[in-house]
Amino acid sequence: MAPIIRVEQIADYVGQEVTLRGWVYNRTHKGKLVFLLIRDGYGFVQCVAFSKDVPAEVFEMAVHIPQESSVLVTGVVRADPRAPGVPGGYEVGITGLETVQAVAEDYPIALKEHGVDFLLDNRHLWIRTQSQWAILRIRATVIRAIRDWLDDHGFTNMDTPILTPAACEGTTTLFGTPYFDEGIAYLAQSGQLYNEANIFAFSRVYCFGPTFRAEKSKTRRHLTEFWMVEPEIAFCDLDELMEIEEQFISYIVQRVLKERGPELRVLGRDTSALERITPPFPRISYDEAAERLAQLAAEAEDPEQKALLAFEWGMDFGSPHETALTQQFDKPVFVYGYPTKVKAFYMEPWPGRPEVCKSVDLLAPEGYGEIIGGSERISSPEVLLEHIHRDKLPEEAFQWYIELRKFGSVPHSGFGLGLERTVTWICGIEHIREAIAFPRTIKRIYP
Ligand code: 4AD
Ligand code: MG
Repeated sequence: MAPIIRVEQIADYVGQEVTLRGWVYNRTHKGKLVFLLIRDGYGFVQCVAFSKDVPAEVFEMAVHIPQESSVLVTGVVRADPRAPGVPGGYEVGITGLETVQAVAEDYPIALKEHGVDFLLDNRHLWIRTQSQWAILRIRATVIRAIRDWLDDHGFTNMDTPILTPAACEGTTTLFGTPYFDEGIAYLAQSGQLYNEANIFAFSRVYCFGPTFRAEKSKTRRHLTEFWMVEPEIAFCDLDELMEIEEQFISYIVQRVLKERGPELRVLGRDTSALERITPPFPRISYDEAAERLAQLAAEAEDPEQKALLAFEWGMDFGSPHETALTQQFDKPVFVYGYPTKVKAFYMEPWPGRPEVCKSVDLLAPEGYGEIIGGSERISSPEVLLEHIHRDKLPEEAFQWYIELRKFGSVPHSGFGLGLERTVTWICGIEHIREAIAFPRTIKRIYP
């Protein structure tokens, strides 16, 4: 009996007979040869049936087996640099073929170009396609890297609630749901406020889970359900926060380069752009970013581009601004010190400049834009209460949060990294909806 192996292990089995369990991704028939591209969840490998080497019924089966049929393929592994596949470079000379299920109808996603709406309606099948498989494998590695780095740097993983009584990032983007006799509960936009309680027990913590934003934004960067990792750190100011972020991001990118080379090749990703992602990252103030944008707008020859880049101090960045800024750097860039009025209530005011807060966003290069939002948090109970009143937030709901500042308050900081935005950038893809298996957007909740 040949051992059952995974395609990703194939290099260890050259010259041996093995069995693969998988699905027929593609089939080509050339006279006495049939090529089956088999995928098994771990990779794609070319399997060849030569009419002289296999029983006639096996050859016939190979000639006719429909796309996506499930199969057991047995054969001898050969190294062949020309063989297509992921990782590629290996071929299996078929000695036996067994069908688990022969597909009886046409597979909806034949291997040709389809419109994106059609693909999204068929997302349950689309994820089998090589590029989608590669993106979701990279996503899983990004998740591993996130957890490994944090677990190895003194962070305790805390799970914060999904059903919450109050808003963290602004009340306009909440999903509400009836909650027994307690009124409306809201799906969490962020676990941050709870993590600020957690640091006083564990010093460094992170939560990592789904977050929800009822954002009306229909852009390439927005989902209504996305995953966010949120580290929170006691005894940490804005500068230390940026140091942690650049170490963290660099580790994630380097780990993907190390472990997901074949998947990045499937996507045609320019890996030299990722190899550059090492600390330190450039840091510019919001003031400087505003000046750079004014200059870019002044220099722009195309009137449409000029209008898109138009910017005044006090505005939040839109996508065109972020894109233009990141194109000036070949690494992620920190923009710190945003105007207080475009950021959340909990951010520490800039000393001597109350119109500015100790916030920092990290913008990914190549036009990708914001992947992290973070800040130093207000550590004084009085200042916090002032901001809660300023933003007309319900004081009672924030009693516990204010209380944290009364029992051993310390300077503390934290950030939220959007998983899908990070995966979109690392994969070099156009749209965030491909960075999650079953995307949720304003227009889509199926499948
Ligand atoms: O900048 P945001 O809103 O920050 C917070 O939620 C803070 N409470 C985080 C913290 O300090 N603990 O969101 C953080 C990140 C963004 O930079 C972005 O990467 C991602 O979450 N994000 C989204 N990703 C996809 N779709 C959306 N609608 C997103 N909104 C935010
Ligand atoms: Mg943000």
